[in-house]
Amino acid sequence: MNEPPKMNEPIIVIDDDETMRRACRAALRRTGYQVETYADGPSGLKRIEEVRPGVLIVDLKMPGMSGMEVIAQLKAMDTDTVIVVITGFATVGTAVEAMKAGAYDFIPKPFTAEELRAIIARAVERYHLSTEAKRLRAEKEHQTRKFITFVSHQLQSPLGAVRQYLDVMLHQMGDDTPVKQREWIDRSRRKIGLMLEIIADWLTLSKVEGGQLATERTLVRWQDLVVKTLDGLEISAQEKQVTLRNEVPDGLPAVVGDESALRMLLANLVNNAIKYNRDGGRVTVAAKASSVDQTVALSVSDTGVGIAPEQQPHVFEEFYRVKNGSTEGTSGTGMGLPICKKIAEELDGRITLSSEPGRGSTFTVVLPRDPKEKTPDEHGEVPQLGGA
Ligand SMILES: Nc1ncnc2c1ncn2[C@@H]1O[C@H](COP(=O)(O)OP(=O)(O)OP(=O)(O)O)[C@@H](O)[C@H]1O
Ligand SMILES: [Mg+2]
Repeated sequence: MNEPPKMNEPIIVIDDDETMRRACRAALRRTGYQVETYADGPSGLKRIEEVRPGVLIVDLKMPGMSGMEVIAQLKAMDTDTVIVVITGFATVGTAVEAMKAGAYDFIPKPFTAEELRAIIARAVERYHLSTEAKRLRAEKEHQTRKFITFVSHQLQSPLGAVRQYLDVMLHQMGDDTPVKQREWIDRSRRKIGLMLEIIADWLTLSKVEGGQLATERTLVRWQDLVVKTLDGLEISAQEKQVTLRNEVPDGLPAVVGDESALRMLLANLVNNAIKYNRDGGRVTVAAKASSVDQTVALSVSDTGVGIAPEQQPHVFEEFYRVKNGSTEGTSGTGMGLPICKKIAEELDGRITLSSEPGRGSTFTVVLPRDPKEKTPDEHGEVPQLGGA
């Protein structure tokens, strides 16, 4: 027999038949693989989630959860596990179904140890091929991103210089300059401004990814950041006749984070809430501390267009913009929310969205809070027995 391909990840066998489990274990142990066996779908799937096996061998016909259900649940997980199904006599039809659902191969009962080993050797090869392909894709993506970052960096200063020259030209234009000329220069200046914004966003994104952006861990007061951010965005809000409301309570505990990263996050959320609002709408920033999981949740709500449920998971993806009336005529590249998400995650927090089309959206950022500080209500709590 040829040397079987090596694999560090275990092989998991799910079969309700004890003899079958024992036979698989015996046949495969000799090849040096780690083999674990389970008698039913739920316990096997639980283990699959924990160990991410290289290969799963699953019996299609089992009481309770069927092999097909196991396959369906495995496919919903983010794993490269290669599936081999065990089929009984005269169930070739089901084997075909299983392969359509994502199984790689099948082995009909009864089978010899030799047959099982041959099929598993192929499945292991297949596993290596798909993980290698995944690694190469990730590497390619990484190189592409590095290149874009490099080019963006290189473009930043010449574009900045051109914008400055255009600024000077605009200022020096006398009253005798034709209106058209002035307009062209002004338009060029704006276009360059947009390009610089895209570049700045991209560079911010790669900084957060590289762990170079949210680097500080100090106590940050949302109260202060909210006041400053709302002040800074008052003019754009007025242009849309949007009212900005600050409902962050005074006694809110500080969060543990990086102030400049959090300022950027908040500005992005409030900016969106204004940009995708209706004329005359409202933006409300509120916050609440939780003593259950020691966090502070800050929310930015608007009365704008909202986001349809099927679009919601995508708005945190790079360059994604919802295609409806809301983004027409508003400038943007779809990098704001991915930046927010990465900042929140970098700071051991998370960002969530709830939205109702036509009524508005609420983005909530949950971050770890200062463990020492209590809210006014928490001060009133009954002291714990046995405390100091
Ligand atoms: N408050 C909101 N209400 C409705 N839609 C929103 C809201 N915030 C974001 N969106 C939708 O999500 C998309 C992605 O938002 P994101 O902030 O990432 O990008 P952007 O605003 O288009 O551009 P950028 O922030 O890079 O200037 C937006 O294009 C918009 O379609
Ligand atoms: Mg945005």
